[in-house]
Amino acid sequence: VTAGGTREFLDPVRFLGNRSSGRQGYAIASAAAVRGATVTLIAANSALAAPAGVDVVSVVTTEEMRQATLTAAARADAIVMAAAPADFRPVHVADAKMKKADDGTSPSIELEQNPDILVELVRNRVNPSQVIVGFAAETGDVYGSVLEHAQAKFTRKGCDLLVVNDVGSEKVFDQLDNEVTILSANAQPVSVPKASKSTVAHAIVDELVQRLK
Ligand code: CTP
Repeated sequence: VTAGGTREFLDPVRFLGNRSSGRQGYAIASAAAVRGATVTLIAANSALAAPAGVDVVSVVTTEEMRQATLTAAARADAIVMAAAPADFRPVHVADAKMKKADDGTSPSIELEQNPDILVELVRNRVNPSQVIVGFAAETGDVYGSVLEHAQAKFTRKGCDLLVVNDVGSEKVFDQLDNEVTILSANAQPVSVPKASKSTVAHAIVDELVQRLK
């Protein structure tokens, strides 16, 4: 299980980050451990305490998360990508703190794309029965609704289940409750009504367990 938001440094003191607290991923790791799974939690920059009975690997950047996840995935029956890995990283990382220019100008930051860990896991599935669960953080926009964007992402990512979060209007980040829809290839979407992240975690693990061979 991956959780939290990765950080990409601009210089020794500044980074690009995101609002993921890690709560939903930690709750999934905990729910799976309670049910008897051997769990590795790959945690990025979360302030939460390690769940009981879970092996925690701490990472900072998307590349570190990628390495740790590929290593753990090699012996996993199931993978849950609940983390929010940063999609972009600065092309150049300054060795020393970037100083303000006296003339009032601001630096431009050139970004490059990070690897998509979920897509890589799906492409290199260690065995066909490995169950891979992705998450989708979506807001609706003029191009489509939350579920339309999520369906497109599900097809693009090729995972077995996609847990869809509507992240508009302060509904998810740093909240204690969550509300999700779980997409799968061979069944109708499952709506999990608003509940604690622990209850939602168990609902996700229920769907995952049904697909373990
Ligand atoms: N993910 C990943 N590696 C990345 C970015 C995302 O493995 N570099 C995973 C997330 O952990 C999640 C899923 O991909 O399980 C979808 O993440 P999301 O942020 O919703 O989608 P993106 O792929 O970043 O697409 P977009 O930002 O365009 O919506």
